[in-house]
Amino acid sequence: MNFTNKNVLITGGTTGIGLATAKEFIKAGANVWITGRNSENLENAATEINSSKLKTIVSDTSNLSNLSVLEQAFAEGGNKLDVLFLNAGIAVFSPIEEVTEADFDAQFNTNVKGHFFTLQKLIPHLAEGSSVIFTSSTVATAANLGTSIYSATKGALNKIAQIAANELAGRKIRVNIVSPGPVSTPGLHKVVPEEAKEYLAGATAMQRLGDPAEIAKTVLFLSSDDASFITGTELLADGGYINFALK
Ligand SMILES: NC(=O)c1ccc[n+]([C@@H]2O[C@H](COP(=O)([O-])OP(=O)(O)OC[C@H]3O[C@@H](n4cnc5c(N)ncnc54)[C@H](OP(=O)(O)O)[C@@H]3O)[C@@H](O)[C@H]2O)c1
Repeated sequence: MNFTNKNVLITGGTTGIGLATAKEFIKAGANVWITGRNSENLENAATEINSSKLKTIVSDTSNLSNLSVLEQAFAEGGNKLDVLFLNAGIAVFSPIEEVTEADFDAQFNTNVKGHFFTLQKLIPHLAEGSSVIFTSSTVATAANLGTSIYSATKGALNKIAQIAANELAGRKIRVNIVSPGPVSTPGLHKVVPEEAKEYLAGATAMQRLGDPAEIAKTVLFLSSDDASFITGTELLADGGYINFALK
């Protein structure tokens, strides 16, 4: 796929799916901006990618004044955005009785408020014909124990993305949702114990966890002209998890 000189902004690009997607877009010729909460993780990602086409911006997606900084940092070069990949996200898993207000707020502020206001701030900078991808999850459809708040954030995102697709269609901007199944990332390894990883892998038809690069390639497809008649849709990249786990 060819993204030569296209401008791509990825929130949460320091590890996992965001980092893998930054690598794929750079390979495809794009200029890529990645965000994260601290400069150390961004420097590590920049060292790993090692390309003059990569730029980094410290920006906490859950913080509105940080999003203004992000908007200014992107806009100062007079650039227009061709792809906005809204990906920054966190998960805290626990049964409903144990969910704290802090867990609830952190997940909604990052996963929902962050996606929503990043999009709002960057709408003026989206080029005609550009593409926005929201990162949801199969949990928006499944109802796994211990995931009530995380799943609710992803369900909320799906609805926002569908409405954004309708609101932005007049400017020829497509908005879609990528919903990964279980993918082997630092984020997953942090919140899922070893035995649960085996269970998750076994719950896919393909009997394995996904690789972040497989989600990245799905994002590139949805962002590309090959997906020119696709908007407002959710594409599952889940190794058959939804159909297999719910069979
Ligand atoms: N892995 C899976 O199985 C899976 C499945 C379905 C959906 N997803 C979704 O995929 C997305 C990426 O997850 P991942 O598995 O790749 O996790 P990850 O390895 O933990 O990556 C998360 C990224 O988000 C960034 N981030 C977190 N909070 C942020 C904030 N407040 N502001 C800015 N950046 C922030 C992190 O950067 P810093 O820590 O450097 O700030 C990191 O770059 C998430 O939306 C997640 O819900 C993952």
